[in-house]
Amino acid sequence: MQTILILDHGSQYTQLRARKIREQNVYCEIHPYNKIPPLTENIKGVVLSGSPYSVTDPQAPDTDLSLFKGKLPVLGICYGAQYMVHKSGGKVEKSVIREYGRAKLVSVNEDCALLKGVKQDSQVWMSHGDTILQLPSDFEVICSTENVQNAGYKIKGEETYAIQFHPEVHHSEFGSQLLRNFVLDICHCDGSWTPASFVKSTVEELKQKLGNDKVVLGLSGGVDSSVAAMLLHRAIGNNLTCIFVDNGLLRKNEFEDVLQSYQNMGLNVIGVNAKQDFYKVLAGVTEPEKKRKAIGKTFIDVFDREANKLKDVKWLGQGTIYPDVIESSSVKGPSQTIKSHHNVGGLPDYMKLQLVEPLRLLFKDEVRKVGKELGLKQELLGRHPFPGPGLAIRILGDITEEKVTILQEVDNIFISSLKQWNLYDKVWQAGAILLPIQSVGVMGDERTYERVVALRAVESVDGMTADWCHLPYEFLAEVSNKIINQVKGVNRVCYDISSKPPATIEWE
Ligand code: XMP
Repeated sequence: MQTILILDHGSQYTQLRARKIREQNVYCEIHPYNKIPPLTENIKGVVLSGSPYSVTDPQAPDTDLSLFKGKLPVLGICYGAQYMVHKSGGKVEKSVIREYGRAKLVSVNEDCALLKGVKQDSQVWMSHGDTILQLPSDFEVICSTENVQNAGYKIKGEETYAIQFHPEVHHSEFGSQLLRNFVLDICHCDGSWTPASFVKSTVEELKQKLGNDKVVLGLSGGVDSSVAAMLLHRAIGNNLTCIFVDNGLLRKNEFEDVLQSYQNMGLNVIGVNAKQDFYKVLAGVTEPEKKRKAIGKTFIDVFDREANKLKDVKWLGQGTIYPDVIESSSVKGPSQTIKSHHNVGGLPDYMKLQLVEPLRLLFKDEVRKVGKELGLKQELLGRHPFPGPGLAIRILGDITEEKVTILQEVDNIFISSLKQWNLYDKVWQAGAILLPIQSVGVMGDERTYERVVALRAVESVDGMTADWCHLPYEFLAEVSNKIINQVKGVNRVCYDISSKPPATIEWE
């Protein structure tokens, strides 16, 4: 498969850049600058990313350019641009005027293959503290902004290009054009990496890899595990057995509905009612991390119990996606996770199953496209993210079956109202939280002392940062009324207006 290699020097824009290149239907992979993979024939070009470091810092990332420069097309971006100049005897220094934000390209060499179709006076997005003051003699300037003479350059006699602005951000007007020029015209990729071609080649590879072997996979109801199951099913049919566990912490009717859609999709799926296993271990547990650990462990026990009933299973299928893969081998090393996420899935070592992860090359939005290609219903594809520990981390304090039922009712009113008001798809994630307090109210002539719930709806791209949704007052009024009238035991509804950071999406 034709591949563009992105060497990461720790820039926060690297994943976005990879996605923008993939939007040109060209596959690309991110690797740390100090772990360059073998440069096989498939690698058609190299992109050097930005970095939080200055090239003059003693700890600045040091990439071995001799492996590919002059042999393959190269595009240096920000740090990548400055680094190649620094290494070739040019001059890079702290900028006198710090360059952040919008800038205009006052001159553009449109004859340069990289800049074909990039218009003079168009806007670009700068973000660097260093600047290239002097280019080595065999480098030529290809574009400039008002403040930066050497905004882009090409090395004579080589297909090596560099720019000091960010082509991947939305504010760089011709950024996509520039990336397209690089991957299609300069690297000669054919732009044939589409959801359809991904499905075809992945199904082929899975067939080769798995032959007549049996695979077991845990379905969660989420997009990733569903798409992974569909791909495996297409490759090996009923040699795939899926296990879908009801942990008693799912949304109202979720288990039955999702199980039904999986069966309709033709998947060979075992539904396991393990509610009581989970309630038992959660009884009296109030600390969020303890809840997560208990749920994670119980999931493994239940899954293990069910999987052991199957005969001759050799593989464990998982819906791991690319950000998890990059995270585990990133330049900075695995980042500190604040909560123990991804605590479902994974089996004890003694089961000795090999892992098969058909989505490990894909970003989340690409998983959705592949799901669509495989005919997955919009209802499943467009679902909000839902945490593995489910409602357990939305019931603050200890968990009882009664509390789960109350929260399911509240959550169901909120989510179905979002759908009725056509707001569901505009919200990234929504849910209700049962608070560990009671409040005084009055219903009829009676004083009440009942439960309080909070509603949370956020806008986000990837869950890393989020803002609360400005839902219409009329909508909130209707939902609050319905909840208080229909859910016995609740007499007060609050709406959470905190952004992340400093708050998080979940309350626990
Ligand atoms: P926070 O609360 O950290 O949530 O802002 C970010 C995203 O992660 C989800 N989340 C979890 N997902 N296991 C999961 O599988 C967990 O323990 C967990 N905690 C939070 C959360 O729903 C949001 O989408």
